[in-house]
Amino acid sequence: MRLDKLIEKELLTSRKEMKRYFARKLVRVDGQVEMNASRNVDSQLHTIQVDTDILRTNHVYLLLNKPVGAVTAVTDGNYPTVTQLVASVDQREFLYPVGRLDRDTEGLLLLTDNGQLGYELLLPDKKVEKTYEVWVNGRLDADDVRAFEEGILFIGGEICKSAKLVILKSSDTMSHCYLTIQEGKFHQVKKMFLARNVKVLRLRRITMGPLQLDEQLPSGAYRPLNHEELLQLKPYFK
Ligand code: URA
Repeated sequence: MRLDKLIEKELLTSRKEMKRYFARKLVRVDGQVEMNASRNVDSQLHTIQVDTDILRTNHVYLLLNKPVGAVTAVTDGNYPTVTQLVASVDQREFLYPVGRLDRDTEGLLLLTDNGQLGYELLLPDKKVEKTYEVWVNGRLDADDVRAFEEGILFIGGEICKSAKLVILKSSDTMSHCYLTIQEGKFHQVKKMFLARNVKVLRLRRITMGPLQLDEQLPSGAYRPLNHEELLQLKPYFK
């Protein structure tokens, strides 16, 4: 959470008192004097010290294996949502999904109540890579690999950034592959394959940045990120 908000909340200070701590150089993160009051901190990753007090945060970071059928939203009038899959002990007021998977897409989805982290992970200039396991209804070959690498052109003129296609298996009726993209346009993967004249039959996200889908997690289940996973996200705490 934002360092200034954490100080106000934990030390019950006014905004003015909180600013005074910074002015007196009494705020330290990981032992260093910190002057950036709006930076994102988490006590699972950072030692947060204000004068002699050590401050603690209480965020959750959940790795969900999204099932087909759940909507990537907090509320929905018609379908179950991904946040409804979270047990009440792990619920937080601002728990939300980082990025969006279609209702018929499954796989890795990060849920957190640390809005600043979610924002950083979704910034286009951060180019956080996402890998999808994809099944399509036709043949894929070296021409497709080249087309994805050069940048797929959507009907309407929009061009995608270079993407990496790895074909695992291919026949006239079905292909199985991995696709790694750096962007998050609406229905991007489905539209990329449509531009190559095949239709996505099944779509499963298996990585997002440093995070990998835990194959031990049954569909619909989630677990908190472990410390190693959180450490890999530390560069995104800005
Ligand atoms: N691309 C899509 O087309 N759908 C998703 O759910 C994710 C990426």
